[in-house]
Amino acid sequence: MHLAAHFPGVNSTTVWSDPRSGSQIDFTSFEHLARTAERGKFDFFFLAEGLRLREYDGRVHDLDVVGRPESLTVLNALAAVTDRLGLAATVNATFNEPYELARRFATLDHLSGGRAAWNVVTSSDAFTGENFRRGGFLDRADRYTRAAEFVSTARELWDSWAPDGVPRPFAHHGRHFDVCGEFTVPRSPQGHPVVIQAGDSDEGREFAAGAADVVFTRHGTLEAGRAFWADVKGRLAKYGRDSDDLKIMPGVTVVVADTDAEAQQDAAEIRRLQVSPQNAILALEQVWGRDLSSYDPDGPFPSVDPEPESGFVQGRVRVADPFAVAAKWRALSEEKGLSIRETVIETTTRQSFVGSPQTVAAGLTAFVDGKAADGFILVPHLTPGGLDAFVDRVVPLLQERGAFRSEYTGSTLREHLGLAEPVWKG
Ligand SMILES: Cc1cc2nc3c(=O)[nH]c(=O)nc-3n(C[C@H](O)[C@H](O)[C@H](O)COP(=O)(O)O)c2cc1C
Repeated sequence: MHLAAHFPGVNSTTVWSDPRSGSQIDFTSFEHLARTAERGKFDFFFLAEGLRLREYDGRVHDLDVVGRPESLTVLNALAAVTDRLGLAATVNATFNEPYELARRFATLDHLSGGRAAWNVVTSSDAFTGENFRRGGFLDRADRYTRAAEFVSTARELWDSWAPDGVPRPFAHHGRHFDVCGEFTVPRSPQGHPVVIQAGDSDEGREFAAGAADVVFTRHGTLEAGRAFWADVKGRLAKYGRDSDDLKIMPGVTVVVADTDAEAQQDAAEIRRLQVSPQNAILALEQVWGRDLSSYDPDGPFPSVDPEPESGFVQGRVRVADPFAVAAKWRALSEEKGLSIRETVIETTTRQSFVGSPQTVAAGLTAFVDGKAADGFILVPHLTPGGLDAFVDRVVPLLQERGAFRSEYTGSTLREHLGLAEPVWKG
């Protein structure tokens, strides 16, 4: 089993009202979570990325955490206070350039002794693009053609230095990029930093099958995980790749307590804190695309229909079929007599593994044995101490079961993940 730690950030998973919550910017927060992950022998530490603050009816959305530092800078600093832990940064393949980014990832790989990973995300939206010179320049249909060319150009750049340390002239003339010259950074310890993909469309899955080492997914139930696993792994053969060449790691949450009953109680309380009355209305507005602030979160659903094309809530993942979601929520609320807030709590429940340490360890193992996942990216609900209980109480049980390593056997992230060194294609 592979394990990674997601640093909680801009999302409604985090319980900021908890007195144990700390800063999401102070370096000591990153250091605490990373050291905890390394103490637990995790494969890697993961940072997500947001390139614009979320907005709500034209104003910065004050229910979200506002502000987070740039990931690669944070990871370079973490490289100095950790030894073995992989360091994964999410960086957009739409609003960057391959030469510059390849340089920065190769640098992190050198500074960390072969622990760098790049989570390649895409964005075609003009809202994010307004922060960049070109604006929203890319058609949605092109987001993965650019990402694929971006990654292959980066790999060509990483290969442009021979393993014996001699640089070669480099030229790439493609549809999206024109790069010509010599690369500044010698071949790094992993040859190519590990590439992660996050994105769930058909094109996203195809890109992952052809180009990624790890997939970060949101499929956190056993059935959805198995279907996703089978689908993505089934695409590998046409790229000449085996099932083990690509690791599938859903983002999951864990609530662990002495007994199952206590953990269930804790989980319900965490959900109540995550879905505050204001957050319940926000969740509704995200689906409906309109101002619903006059509605009572403890009352019934609005009778108005969603406005799918509105730009009311900006910067969040678009709800694919707002009418279907609205119909489902209304039906559930009527059937069970639930208020808006209770319905949102019930339909957006994120706690994937809840229970005693034994129950959680058994649940995680069942996912891996059942081919629903190769491992997990754990998303704690507290910064920075949200992983402590898992590492202290669940990891030892996984180790006893032989499901997870007791010591690091390698020093690079590729070694932790059991991924082969890329063959030099100079
Ligand atoms: C699990 C997961 C995590 C993601 N994390 C980020 C992120 O940190 N930053 C970001 O800009 N986009 C993130 N994305 C968005 C994707 O890069 C992509 O833009 C989006 O999923 C649309 O692509 P798709 O149609 O292939 O799903 C994430 C997507 C998924 C599924």
